[in-house]
Amino acid sequence: MRFDILTLFPEFFSSPLNQSLLGKALAKGVLSVNTYNIRDFTTDRHRTTDDSPYGGGHGMVMKVEPVVRALEALRSDCAGARVILTTPQGVPLTQALAGELSREERLIIVCGRYEGVDERIRAFVDTEVSLGDFVLTGGEIAALALIDSVGRLVPDVLGEPGSAAHDSFSDGLLEYPQYTRPEDFRGQMVPPVLLSGNHAEIERWRRIESLKRTFKRRPDLIEKAVLTEAERRLLKETAG
Ligand SMILES: C[S@@+](CC[C@H](N)C(=O)[O-])C[C@H]1O[C@@H](n2cnc3c(N)ncnc32)[C@H](O)[C@@H]1O
Repeated sequence: MRFDILTLFPEFFSSPLNQSLLGKALAKGVLSVNTYNIRDFTTDRHRTTDDSPYGGGHGMVMKVEPVVRALEALRSDCAGARVILTTPQGVPLTQALAGELSREERLIIVCGRYEGVDERIRAFVDTEVSLGDFVLTGGEIAALALIDSVGRLVPDVLGEPGSAAHDSFSDGLLEYPQYTRPEDFRGQMVPPVLLSGNHAEIERWRRIESLKRTFKRRPDLIEKAVLTEAERRLLKETAG
């Protein structure tokens, strides 16, 4: 899968993308990431990418022409690429959206800065994506979060195929608690069931813990989750 990033700060991406599983996937060629400096698509002597807002007000607004010129140049060799605009006003990035985007062949991600990109950019993008209800200084961190969350769902990126299937949100719930050695850490013991070797019991325990944890921390997810009658009863008892 290929990611193209349009940014005013291409240097931002070199280190984070070369680490760990993502770095390996890039080295193997399962994923590829290209960065393009929006400034290279300006046509004036000063390579201007921003200007003051019409109507007055504070800050600067990113000009639409260089971004659209960059998009048109990138799209000329792949008309099917999906264009994402990073913006706090977009749809929230969820595991479901990451899954959907991981089935695309190519994503072009536009990183805003300052007060964001001129409103008229919206006619040139397919999906506006937000990391959450907070404001970052630029879209680069959002682009990295997108590449990481989408990239790890592309086949052959994770070390163990299928390991993402148990992650939080994959089945609408938070994941169960995880433990590794030692068995006793300053008096905090690993739950005995996990040492029992009884896989059916372990699965049962994990499902119950996942339900209880989601119920306690994210009741909004429980409302939408597909649960059995027995599971709903169990949660009622937990609440009671
Ligand atoms: C300072 S923000 C602009 C915020 C804009 N004035 C507003 O209030 O909606 C600059 C850029 O950071 C990025 N950004 C900021 N917060 C974000 C978020 N929650 N999700 C995705 N991108 C974000 C966007 O690319 C945005 O254009």
